[in-house]
Amino acid sequence: MAKELVADYIKKLVPYVPGKPIEELERELGIKDSIKIASNENPLGPSPKGVAAAQALLNNLHRYPDGGATTLRDRLSKKLGVPADQIVVGNGSNEVLELATATFMRPGDHAVISAHAFVVYDLAVDSRGYDKTVVPPGKNYGHDLRAMAKAVTDKTRIVFIANPNNPTGTYNTREELDELLESLPQDVIVVLDEAYFEFVDQPDYPDGVELVKKGANVIACRTFSKIYGLAGLRCGYGVMPAELAGYINRVRQPFNVNMLAQAAAEAAIDDVEFVEKAKAVNRQGMAFLERSFNEMKLEFIPSVGNFVLFKCPIDTKVAYDKLLRKGVIVRPMGGYKLGEWLRVTVGLPEENQRFIQALKEIL
Ligand SMILES: Cc1ncc(COP(=O)(O)O)c(C=O)c1O
Repeated sequence: MAKELVADYIKKLVPYVPGKPIEELERELGIKDSIKIASNENPLGPSPKGVAAAQALLNNLHRYPDGGATTLRDRLSKKLGVPADQIVVGNGSNEVLELATATFMRPGDHAVISAHAFVVYDLAVDSRGYDKTVVPPGKNYGHDLRAMAKAVTDKTRIVFIANPNNPTGTYNTREELDELLESLPQDVIVVLDEAYFEFVDQPDYPDGVELVKKGANVIACRTFSKIYGLAGLRCGYGVMPAELAGYINRVRQPFNVNMLAQAAAEAAIDDVEFVEKAKAVNRQGMAFLERSFNEMKLEFIPSVGNFVLFKCPIDTKVAYDKLLRKGVIVRPMGGYKLGEWLRVTVGLPEENQRFIQALKEIL
C-alpha cells in the first residue's frame, strides 16, 4: 500500500486565517475607502525612520543580508542591556516562536499552552506532531499560570505564555510569573511572548528581558511589527540565555531576516517620537472604544494591548459581514474558540469613530 503523503497530525492542522486584506474586500464588494482594524497593526503606518533606512538600501538588493543580523543585534544589545550573543533575530517574532519549538522539542516532548492563547504556539507544536496540554483559561479568558504550572510533566520542554495575550488583551503580573518560574524544573523553557510589550503601562507588568538577565530559563520574544509599524517587513527577536541562542543559531536559516527588515528595525529603535505617538494614539483610542462599548452596553475584555475583544449581541458572522459591507474589517474569533466575540484593533480616531458608528447601525 502506498505511504500516506503526510502524517495525520498535518492533516489535522487548520491553516492560519489572517485578517481580510483591504484590497480583497474592495475587489469583492466593489467598495472604496475601507478600513482594516483586524490585525493589530499600527494605525500610524510604519516608523518613518524605518522606511527611510529601508529605502536607502534598495540598490543593494543584489547582496545577501547580514546572516547574523550583527548590527541590529548590537543596537538591541545596547538598548536592552544584554550581550548580543543572547539575542536571536527572526523573520517576525513568529519565527522565533517556531525556532524555539524546532530547537528545544523532540518527538514525544510536551508543551503547555493556555486555551485562547495566540494560535501560533499550537501551530508550532501541532505541525511537528508534538504533545501539548491546553490549559483552561483564567479570568477573562487569560492565562491561569498556576494551572499551567500544574500541567507540566517530566516530558514538558516549553511553557508558552503570551504576555499580554492576543486575542484577549489580558496580562499576567510579575508576581504570577515569578511564582510560575520558581515552580518549574530547570529544564523547562518559558517562551514569553511580549509582542505588545511597548504598549503596556501597568506597574505590575513583568519585563521578560529583566528575567533573562537574572538567569531565568526564558526566551522573551518581541517584535517590530506592532509599535514600530513594520509588520510587512517581518522582523522580531528573542532574548534568552546565550546557550539557548547558540542552539537556535544552529537551527535557523542562514539568511532568515531580509536586509530591508534589519535596517528598518535598527533605525526604528531610534524613532522615539514615533513610538511615543503610537502609544498615545493607542491609549486615547482604547479609552474611546471602552467608553463607547460601555455606552452601548456591550461586554468587552479590558485590554493592555492595541486591540480589544467585545461580545457581539448578534451572530458574529452576520455582524462581521455587515461591518464588511460598511467597509470595516474586524476579526472574527471562531478560530480561538471565542465564537461570540469579535476583536477590533485600535485605529486612528476617525477609524475608531467610523467603526463604532457602523457597529451602532448594524446592531
Ligand atoms: C501575541 C503575538 N505574538 C506574536 C505575534 C507575531 O508577530 P510577528 O509579526 O513579529 O511575527 C503576534 C502577531 O499578531 C501576536 O499577536
